[in-house]
Amino acid sequence: MTESNDAIALTLENVAKDFGGLRAVDQVSLRVPVGERRAIIGPNRAGKTTLFNLISGELPVTQGKIILFGQDVTAMPPYRRVGLQMGRTYQITNVFQKLSVEENVLLAAQGLSNIKYAFHRTLPRRGAIYEQMTSALQSTGLTDKAHLPAQKLSYGEQRQLELALALATGPRVLLLDEPAAGLSAVERTRIAALIRSLPKSLTIVLIEHDMDLALGLVDQVTCLHFGRVIAEGTPDAIRVNATVQEVYLGAG
Ligand SMILES: Nc1ncnc2c1ncn2[C@@H]1O[C@H](COP(=O)(O)OP(=O)(O)OP(=O)(O)O)[C@@H](O)[C@H]1O
Ligand SMILES: [Mg+2]
Repeated sequence: MTESNDAIALTLENVAKDFGGLRAVDQVSLRVPVGERRAIIGPNRAGKTTLFNLISGELPVTQGKIILFGQDVTAMPPYRRVGLQMGRTYQITNVFQKLSVEENVLLAAQGLSNIKYAFHRTLPRRGAIYEQMTSALQSTGLTDKAHLPAQKLSYGEQRQLELALALATGPRVLLLDEPAAGLSAVERTRIAALIRSLPKSLTIVLIEHDMDLALGLVDQVTCLHFGRVIAEGTPDAIRVNATVQEVYLGAG
């Protein structure tokens, strides 16, 4: 590993994904330095979620390379990427509705996402896993709700819980797919503040439809359109980028 690679959390080299005849992700190259907050924006069907599925390993790439902290993970299954501290938000269906918020986060911290284990485990009341849970609840503003069954949470709080589940795995790179989707204006502001307050050492790649929200949260922006990177730059540069404006107006 070279010195410069140490400072790069995530590298994509000419990554492509085909679904039958459709090229959903087309020759995408990215370099995300450690601690950077990066937004992936772009209209519907631009390939944003597919790109995340390739990065997390849920889908195999058709072509290209994915490198995490200098290590080639292109052929690694998702659980091994989590072992290399790549975290992503889970869909809310991964939450055990009857278990408490705290129990859900403890299970995530233990690396258990299988319901079979969930009911046969004695959950720790102290130690590293417990600390990880406490810290994830604190970072996501859920400490007061720790003992509530997950099903009693509001929709906005459930989205906070998704974030807590991802944080509980102790990620160094965190992938967030539309963390504010479906939230009210007040809830959006809250989740944006939570994301902003996460440790600066954590590298965050964030998909967000709402340009204003995305651009207010990140250092760098990559805009996808038909699977291709059509623009990359700071939020200020992206705001005035003619190609990006065209794509968003066209999509609107
Ligand atoms: N599993 C799949 N099988 C076949 N086609 C797929 C699959 N997943 C995505 N696609 C197609 O790939 C393209 C990109 O989809 P993707 O979900 O990545 O876009 P997106 O940018 O996340 O869109 P959105 O903003 O609507 O969430 C779309 O045309 C979509 O229909
Ligand atoms: Mg998507």
